[in-house]
Amino acid sequence: MKVVILNGSPKGQNSISLQTALYFQKLHPTHDFQVLDVAQKIKFYEKKFDTIKDTLESADLLLFVYPVYTFLAPAQLHRFIELMKENKVSLENAFVSQITTSKHFYDSTAHAYIEENCYDFMGKYIPGFSGDMDDLVTKQGQVQAKDYFDKMLFDIEHNIYTLKPVLKQEVPAYRSILEAKEKTIAKNVVMISDYQEGDDSLKAMMDDFVATSKANIRVVYLKDLRIDGGCLGCLQCAISAKCVYKDKFDAFIQEEIGHCDAIVYAFTIKNHFANSYMKLFDDRQFCNGHRSVHKGKSVTYIVSGDLDSEKNLQTVIQARSEVGGLYLCGIVSDQHHPSQSILNVCQTLDYVLEKPIERPTMFYGVGGTKIFRDLVYVMQGFMQADHKFYKENGIYDFPQQNKLQLYKMIFLGNLLQIPAVQKKMKGQLSSYILAPYKKVLEEEEK
Ligand SMILES: Cc1cc2nc3c(=O)[nH]c(=O)nc-3n(C[C@H](O)[C@H](O)[C@H](O)COP(=O)(O)O)c2cc1C
Repeated sequence: MKVVILNGSPKGQNSISLQTALYFQKLHPTHDFQVLDVAQKIKFYEKKFDTIKDTLESADLLLFVYPVYTFLAPAQLHRFIELMKENKVSLENAFVSQITTSKHFYDSTAHAYIEENCYDFMGKYIPGFSGDMDDLVTKQGQVQAKDYFDKMLFDIEHNIYTLKPVLKQEVPAYRSILEAKEKTIAKNVVMISDYQEGDDSLKAMMDDFVATSKANIRVVYLKDLRIDGGCLGCLQCAISAKCVYKDKFDAFIQEEIGHCDAIVYAFTIKNHFANSYMKLFDDRQFCNGHRSVHKGKSVTYIVSGDLDSEKNLQTVIQARSEVGGLYLCGIVSDQHHPSQSILNVCQTLDYVLEKPIERPTMFYGVGGTKIFRDLVYVMQGFMQADHKFYKENGIYDFPQQNKLQLYKMIFLGNLLQIPAVQKKMKGQLSSYILAPYKKVLEEEEK
């Protein structure tokens, strides 16, 4: 496979982001990788774009690899995208994805920006990988990077990609058309549905989804569930993890949902969310406090209605998945290509059921977790169940606990105050920062 890497870091070969792409090159030497330093050499490409147009259009996989710069990408990469459009580059034969490093501050908007541009180039878009700056030098970061690339190879092999949204407010009703697959995956998958009489399109999508997955999916209809009322906000559960209601919903959540391997939510959009019964179900999960009890599992959404117009709902879905540490397999909607997207998302669900994978959390997840971390830490005397969970799961990662890094930076900062050292180090700081990443690449080579 021909993999073309568009290196969008102004630092060129000294880019941290690029190291993740080079890591994949080391892991998969049979694929043909080519790196183009498009940001660093932007002046050259402004004059000589024709030298690479064929390279871009003949790629099987094109990867935008760049640092997040102020909510989006570096200006040089924005300029390169302008050049691609001016030169009418078409990526219709390529799969396209993206790799970034950042501190996860609005990496979500940067990824959305590149994704939207990929659709303009007609590329088959595969969701990208957003690593923290230091991820590649950690074991967990390496595992997540490998997971991303392996899943991408699976997607390419099975022609799975995110379909370009086409604004279309009239949502045609979906009718079941897919054939049932043999149930070969023995995992516990629950579909939570707020299906109501008349939601025929939702029901058809649910039926096809259940038929098409290789796992047996247990459907729980919210209307059949006993929920005596909404969360009262009494905080009685903060200590005991037990709810004051006697409807046994807390036990249901903790025993039946808590132990499942994957959750599928199915609902019809109503008043810019779902039926209020769905919200009842959400709020009553407060008996789990701020604990991401489903971390490492997966979640899928089946949504009927005009999802394209519901930007806030899209954000809620993404943010909830991330804060909960869940792998979002995808969103099936009757708005666009529903049968194709049921097949795609089902394959992803089956894949992660057989080989659970994690992806690094982006801005919504990282930001949300930090807010909860600080909240629970201060409230630990009261939020005892949360505090115990946060301690056991290493969520108290306050920066000030990373003493080694703190002292290293103080030492480095003081050293660089000395003019002679400053002179010696001039232009070398980037390669000094890169040393631990190079070590990872060398280790992988052995
Ligand atoms: C001009 C500039 C803007 C940045 N903006 C962001 C940002 O919005 N969010 C973030 O998380 N990191 C931001 N960063 C940090 C970089 O994304 C991060 O250091 C990245 O790992 C650098 O990758 P590179 O070595 O491949 O260039 C910014 C850095 C610079 C220099």
